[in-house]
Amino acid sequence: MASKTPKILYVEEHRYMHELVRTGLKDLHCGPQMVRSIQAAEKCLDGGRFDLILCEATVGDQSGIEFVSALRKKQKHAGTAVVVLSQYNDSETINRAMKSGADEYILKPFEFRRLTDSIKRWLSLLSYDIAWDDLSPEQAQLTRLALATMGQAANAARNGEDLPIQNVKDNCLSILRAGLDSKIVGMLGNMNSHDARTYLHSIRFSAYLGSIVSETVTNTDRFKDIVTAGLLHDIGVSRIPSEFLTKEEWSSEDYQWFIKQHVEFAAVIFREQSERMPSVVEIVSTQHHERLDGSGPLGKLGENFAEFGRIAAVIEEFLSLKEGRRFGATLTKEQIFRRLYDDTGLDQRFVHRLAEVQSAA
Ligand SMILES: [Fe+2]
Repeated sequence: MASKTPKILYVEEHRYMHELVRTGLKDLHCGPQMVRSIQAAEKCLDGGRFDLILCEATVGDQSGIEFVSALRKKQKHAGTAVVVLSQYNDSETINRAMKSGADEYILKPFEFRRLTDSIKRWLSLLSYDIAWDDLSPEQAQLTRLALATMGQAANAARNGEDLPIQNVKDNCLSILRAGLDSKIVGMLGNMNSHDARTYLHSIRFSAYLGSIVSETVTNTDRFKDIVTAGLLHDIGVSRIPSEFLTKEEWSSEDYQWFIKQHVEFAAVIFREQSERMPSVVEIVSTQHHERLDGSGPLGKLGENFAEFGRIAAVIEEFLSLKEGRRFGATLTKEQIFRRLYDDTGLDQRFVHRLAEVQSAA
């Protein structure tokens, strides 16, 4: 969690819930400010910004959802994450809450773990220096979602906890939407945060992976597993020490070490999970730097180099050329594909497929 003390507002009519939440959140050291009416909440907001607001769907005889809607019209609160807590499980109320600009909807009764996980996820936004004022409400919402979801996964991997795979999967298509917005992309790319740049690379990677398989994979659940695999493909990077990642210059030995280490860390992270991940998630994370001749970091050959690993390796090479990481210079699309076509370490079927997807874009 961020070093700055987070500001949380809890809007709930019933006093006994205040006590329960206060006790439940003790270990997070982020005692929320608690109010029992919408008017009191509005007064708090007039006084300043909050990092996170937890609000009931109905507070007394007033609508918490309308309160969220009004809040979202005020630019100064664009960086505030909002979680609606509610006993209503009908899709109309849930949709209304999400459309009003809430970031998450938690159904009551809930286990405290559910609430603390959510709070940790949204407070992870505090570790980024984001110019919220430059973003529209929709862009701000997508940015909060993309950074908090990817950040939660990276933190879980860092701390040896289970990856929030279902959460990434539930939000994966919205995260890809964030990757289509040039303003959000520009902002993530310019942020002084290695994590944010890794997430941006992963969103791009995932978008290419999704478009390569979109014609052949028609099952939505399977498609989301694949997109999720793309978003998490560099999950092993979260275990690389930040002192190394932020080094001014990398020697070629540094680069080789990084490539080998982050895929090995990915394999370790998957071994630590209490539940098995979808196999495509493991394959893409561990095999995206493999080569057909077995010269990749894990030396996968033949059928051990899975089809999704081969697709991932093509996308990885493509992006490293496109993002200028390999030669330090930006190449044209033609130059990039000439190199990919000449690369005997890549499965050429997928280079062709990527070229088709590119020319259709
Ligand atoms: Fe990688």
